[in-house]
Parts: sequence; structure tokens; C-alpha cells
Amino acid sequence: MALLEVRNLVVRYGEIEALRGVSFSVEEGKVVTLLGANGAGKSTTLRAISGLSKPTSGEIVFNGETISGLGPEAIVRLGISHVPEGRRVFPGLTVKENIMLGASNRRVSKALLSREADAMFDLFPDIRKFSGALGWTLSGGQLQMVAVARGLMAKPKLLLLDEPSLGLAPVIVQAVFKIISEIRRNTTVLLVEQNARMGLSVADYGYVLETGRIVLGGKPDELWGNEAIAAAYLGGHAKVPA
Ligand SMILES: Nc1ncnc2c1ncn2[C@@H]1O[C@H](COP(=O)(O)OP(=O)(O)OP(=O)(O)O)[C@@H](O)[C@H]1O
Ligand SMILES: [Mg+2]
Repeated sequence: MALLEVRNLVVRYGEIEALRGVSFSVEEGKVVTLLGANGAGKSTTLRAISGLSKPTSGEIVFNGETISGLGPEAIVRLGISHVPEGRRVFPGLTVKENIMLGASNRRVSKALLSREADAMFDLFPDIRKFSGALGWTLSGGQLQMVAVARGLMAKPKLLLLDEPSLGLAPVIVQAVFKIISEIRRNTTVLLVEQNARMGLSVADYGYVLETGRIVLGGKPDELWGNEAIAAAYLGGHAKVPA
């Protein structure tokens, strides 16, 4: 059985039906990318999985357990960590304290958390120099690294990443995606991206969402291989990216 199974998920915001029966699965140890245009329902899907949005109907099964209906804290405890859009960091805390906040679901000593947070700077060397500083000013890419590091501090079985490349310069996007390909050695990742090229470059499997429905799913080379599909959904890149 897959680590995550989303079955016939419907989410409404008042009159708006943001998800209209979304079904897909994520196998353990894989990176799965959800692609789709603005407003397609990508963030809503992640929010439903992490318990931030309540499904109208449908079912979400994680590790064999139905989690749709549980609150966000219970879902974090079961091993799902959500790095939302927008790279929220708390300016009154040091960068290391910001990262340590991600472990609020775990009952372990502060000393251990401190060591783990220090180890995060091996994965994210660009932000090491800000570790203990207050009054830091971070670039968009560095804020994104703090957000991903915080998500990893929860030691999740499943990491939900919402548009980690949004607004970043290409070279920074590459750095963030390099980290994603390193994370995948021990964490399952569900990644949301508008940038099909980057999103599929790290993926084992991809799905395309269009106005609240999955219209397509396949391995990256299958998605790129079909020129009509690539042109319609993947921004016209009808070739496997280098
Ligand atoms: N809090 C909300 N209240 C009302 N409508 C919402 C709310 N959040 C999202 N929507 C609507 O639900 C639909 C799906 O939105 P969602 O944020 O999931 O899309 P998305 O694929 O993440 O888009 P983007 O790429 O712009 O982040 C859109 O029509 C959006 O306007
Ligand atoms: Mg979104």
C-alpha cells in the first residue's frame, strides 16, 4: 500500500469547489510532484492533507490510517510536515531558533534539537552564518532554506513542499532543488510546483491538476514524452529536461 492515498477528495470554500474529486497516491521513498496553473488546487490539496482545510468529502489515508478529519497537530504527530507557500519566518528569533520550531511535535531534549538544528546547516550551508544572529536579513532563497529546514526538523515520514521555487532566481532554484534531491534519500516528498521543468527534474512521478481535477499522471519521461501533453500542460517543453 502507498504511504499516502488521496481518494475522491472534494474541498469547497463557500461556493467555490476548489477540489472536485482528486485521487492520487504517493509511494514511500518517492518524490511526487503536483503540477498545475494558478488556482488549480495544488495548495488546497496540501492543506487538506495536513489538516488545514477540511474536506467536504473523500478520504485521505496515511500509513494505513484515515487522517481526513484530524486536526493539524494530530497529523504532524503522525509524521506529515507541511512547508507552506510564503516562507514564513519569525523575525524576533534567530535563524536556528526558527529552524528548531519545526520540532514542536517531538518530545526530545532541547540539547538534541540544538544538535539536529546545527546539523541542518550541513544541508543548508548558505544560512549557517546567520545561525545565531538576530536582526538577520535573508534573501528569498535563504528564507526558503529556513522553511525547508524547519519542515525537516519534524522528522516527517512525508514532507509537503508548496512551491519552493516561487520568486527565486534560477541559480537559487537549482540550489533548493539540489537539497530536495538530497532529502529524498530518507524522506518521502510531495512537491507542488508551477515550474514543470524543475518539478519533474527531481520527481519519480508527476500529476497535473486542472481546476480541481487530476487530468494526467505519469513518470516524468512519460509526461515529457507526449508532445501534445507537454505543450498543453508543461509549458511547451516537449523534451526531457537535461
Ligand atoms: N481561503 C480561500 N477562500 C476562498 N477561495 C479560495 C481560498 N483558497 C483558495 N481558494 C480558491 O480555490 C482554488 C484553488 O486554490 P489553490 O490555492 O489551491 O490553488 P493553487 O493551485 O495552489 O494556485 P497557486 O499556483 O496560485 O498557488 C482557487 O480558485 C482559489 O481562488
Ligand atoms: Mg498554491
